Amino acid sequence: MAKVSDLALLLVAGMAISLYIQETGAVKFDIRNQCGYTVWAAGLPGGGQQLTQCQTWTVNLAAGTQSARFWGRTGCSFDASGKGTCQTGDCRGQLSCRVSLVDGFNIPLSINPTNTQCTAPACKADVNAVWPAELKVTGGCKSACVAFQTDQYCCTGSYANSCPATNYSMIFKQQCPQAYSYAKDDTATFACPSGTDYSIVFCP
Ligand SMILES: *[C@@H]1O[C@H](CO)[C@@H](O)[C@H](O)[C@H]1NC(C)=O
Repeated sequence: MAKVSDLALLLVAGMAISLYIQETGAVKFDIRNQCGYTVWAAGLPGGGQQLTQCQTWTVNLAAGTQSARFWGRTGCSFDASGKGTCQTGDCRGQLSCRVSLVDGFNIPLSINPTNTQCTAPACKADVNAVWPAELKVTGGCKSACVAFQTDQYCCTGSYANSCPATNYSMIFKQQCPQAYSYAKDDTATFACPSGTDYSIVFCP
């Protein structure tokens, strides 16, 4: 991870954006859906929000927040109390999320700083089109770690300290070189200065 990072961004396998925040000020995120279908955005912290095409959800992270994660869910239906399910990105059947999700790919997304010059990652490719059949789920795909649960794919056990890319993570990396493609992929962190606000776009 970058030494002077105030905010390090990880685009995790096209499914989520993870942030490690080292600044003390508040940070604002505008999360916009440019897909031709409804996306149920989720944030930890932040909860969740249904976004029809071209809708934007603003999440303000309070000063002192140390990490955050945002992702999109598809094919959801929720009842009036906010309970239901999603085809991809589900968080235990809640509209508003309090638990994290399994890693995989579902929606192309990007993150852009809105008020500073800072390079940030995007994964615009439709990884769903090239993903091997054994990882496919309806509307997306899961990671090799989730699918096979081996030390090699999850970077656990004898792979905890040294964990090279695998045949599966390399397929993803070819499509989305800027994204974090497996648990120890440290080629894909980005840092932006203090005071940066961001726009996250589904289907950029
Ligand atoms: C990845 O390697 C494993 C183990 O060698 C093999 O079983 C699997 O079919 C390979 N998958 C792809 C997509 O190359």
